[in-house]
Amino acid sequence: MSKIHVCKSSEIPADGMKTFEVAGGRKILIANAGSNFYAYQGICPHQDVCLGEGFFDGAVLTCHQHLWQWDITTGAAVGLAEAPLESYQIDVVEGEIFVVQASALKAAELFAGISDATHDRLGEIARREERPSGSVLYEIGDATDDLYILESGRVDFQIGRDERTSAAGFVLNKGEVFGWAALLAGQPRRIARAVCLEDSVLLRLSGEQTLQILEADPAAGYAVMRKLASLITRQLTTPTGK
Ligand code: FES
Repeated sequence: MSKIHVCKSSEIPADGMKTFEVAGGRKILIANAGSNFYAYQGICPHQDVCLGEGFFDGAVLTCHQHLWQWDITTGAAVGLAEAPLESYQIDVVEGEIFVVQASALKAAELFAGISDATHDRLGEIARREERPSGSVLYEIGDATDDLYILESGRVDFQIGRDERTSAAGFVLNKGEVFGWAALLAGQPRRIARAVCLEDSVLLRLSGEQTLQILEADPAAGYAVMRKLASLITRQLTTPTGK
């Protein structure tokens, strides 16, 4: 868990919102609705657009670019939006607003619902890496040795080769897993290039060790493989960073 100071509560207009840049260059949106404050990712999950430039009526947040909308109390997608907002637990202490972050491993959908003991074993093999904006995590053709969980920042994916590369067209949220080919048989090489779009923090897990841990806990292994199958199916319509 980490706690990050964002702003003073007096800086947020009543039933209004504002984005702030915190350590590492990450943008966080703070909104007020009645007597409550909410904290979300400051950049639209669709494209690289600041949500603070959008519209907020005290209940629904609208991105001005393509009009995706979210319920401000939950971050759930409304109407056209195809993805929810990443939310942060908020703590207001003497007029100062902080966001509290759980570990990315705990937030990872792929590992949700598995036993605490197996979670702890995965935590032991996870290596935390801080990577500057622009750094390349892997190239097309690299070995699929590790999988990654995004703790903060943004990662972009390109598929294809040389000048014919093209954006894979998605943005990852905290807890999302990529490089999951490390868990698959018969996928020894990357088919995408992964690059940090801003300063990012990642958890990196050896695919081989992760599989060994899951094999020792068949219930967890089954749950993870079912989620992985669903993740792959979902991403087949939007090719991603395997
Ligand atoms: S960039 Fe926000 S909806 Fe498209």
